[in-house]
Amino acid sequence: MKSVFSILVLSLFFSSMKATELITPLPQNIKYDKNRAILGKKLFSDPILSLDGTISCESCHSLKQSGADDKKFSYGVGGKIGTMNSPTVFNSVFNFSQLWDGRAKDLKTQAKISLFSSTVMAMDSIEVIKKLKNDIYYKKEFSTLYPDGVTIKNIIDAIVEFEKALVTPNSKFDKFLRGDLNALNEQEKQGYKLFKSYGCISCHNGVNIGGNLYQKLGAIKPYLGTKNQFGRYNVTKNDEDKYYFKVPTLRNIAQTAPYLHDGNATDLEDAIEIMLEYQLGRVASREDIEYLKLFLNTLTGKRAKILGEEF
Ligand code: HEC
Ligand code: HEC
Repeated sequence: MKSVFSILVLSLFFSSMKATELITPLPQNIKYDKNRAILGKKLFSDPILSLDGTISCESCHSLKQSGADDKKFSYGVGGKIGTMNSPTVFNSVFNFSQLWDGRAKDLKTQAKISLFSSTVMAMDSIEVIKKLKNDIYYKKEFSTLYPDGVTIKNIIDAIVEFEKALVTPNSKFDKFLRGDLNALNEQEKQGYKLFKSYGCISCHNGVNIGGNLYQKLGAIKPYLGTKNQFGRYNVTKNDEDKYYFKVPTLRNIAQTAPYLHDGNATDLEDAIEIMLEYQLGRVASREDIEYLKLFLNTLTGKRAKILGEEF
């Protein structure tokens, strides 16, 4: 009830004001250490980091598919299937915590979870150091960039330095936010208006258009798909946190299907309809759903370049 009320109040509030400042454009200049990021990029895409040498971070976070994969659930080492849809790694540096339930406080904690989790890369800390020290490229790069050479801390540091570079600025919508009012056409502007008036913006806001709060999936109407996934409750063990998940970023959303932590929404229309029904208790016309979709399409940004190469 509390959340129903707050969403109603917030959506009234947002539709009555010029809400552009609730979403801010991505920074165009991002700070990261280039050499460590290049090493991190190599590690990110190298199956050497998994126990059986078959899986890299990129297996589930394809850099060509906007940082996610196209599966409902991803396969880790030994064909083990996960239970959560892989989110994008693009712009994840701007999330206030990592993972659907926020159990990783930052990217470093998150990268360790992927590396050592038995259903992901199942790596062993002694084994990974041995493998990298036996590799001519890694041995040399680590000793050039870090005084103590190959260590778990340095492996994680390099990967995270690369992740900091995975920012996708200059989407049509960011250009619009920066004052280029022609960057969106009339239909896209209508979609943005609806995004505010339906109240989507009450949960999806900030620089990542998400990533800055936990909200219940099923805020208005119970979402039955989540029976076995408790979200934030995993971390806090408070009953009130059951079915709360980190509100995901909507940046590059047109490219990261399927959607939701359970991968149950196969396309963008599905995801929009689920949001309207379960998060807002609204029924929208086909036309409005189409406008919302056109707006979401404007959130696709440009991939940054590392040493002149697109990541
Ligand atoms: C087998 C597939 C798989 C591999 C390999 C994998 N990930 Fe993930 N990644 C996932 C899934 C699934 C989630 C969501 C899990 C959850 O929330 O419980 C995730 C979540 C993340 C997130 C959090 C994003 C957010 O919005 O919360 C980041 C960052 C990330 N992975 C980076 C990495 C890095 C770095 C590596 C390599 C060290 C890696 N991943 C390897 C599947 C994978
Ligand atoms: C009450 C908060 C709330 C409102 C309002 C809301 N959302 Fe969401 N949205 C969420 C949460 C939480 C998730 C993640 C749910 C999950 O999978 O566990 C989500 C997920 C999504 C996704 C899928 C993202 C992905 O990467 O899987 C899309 C797309 C989306 N929302 C768009 C919208 C649109 C469009 C509206 C308005 C019609 C809207 N949302 C309204 C909280 C909200």
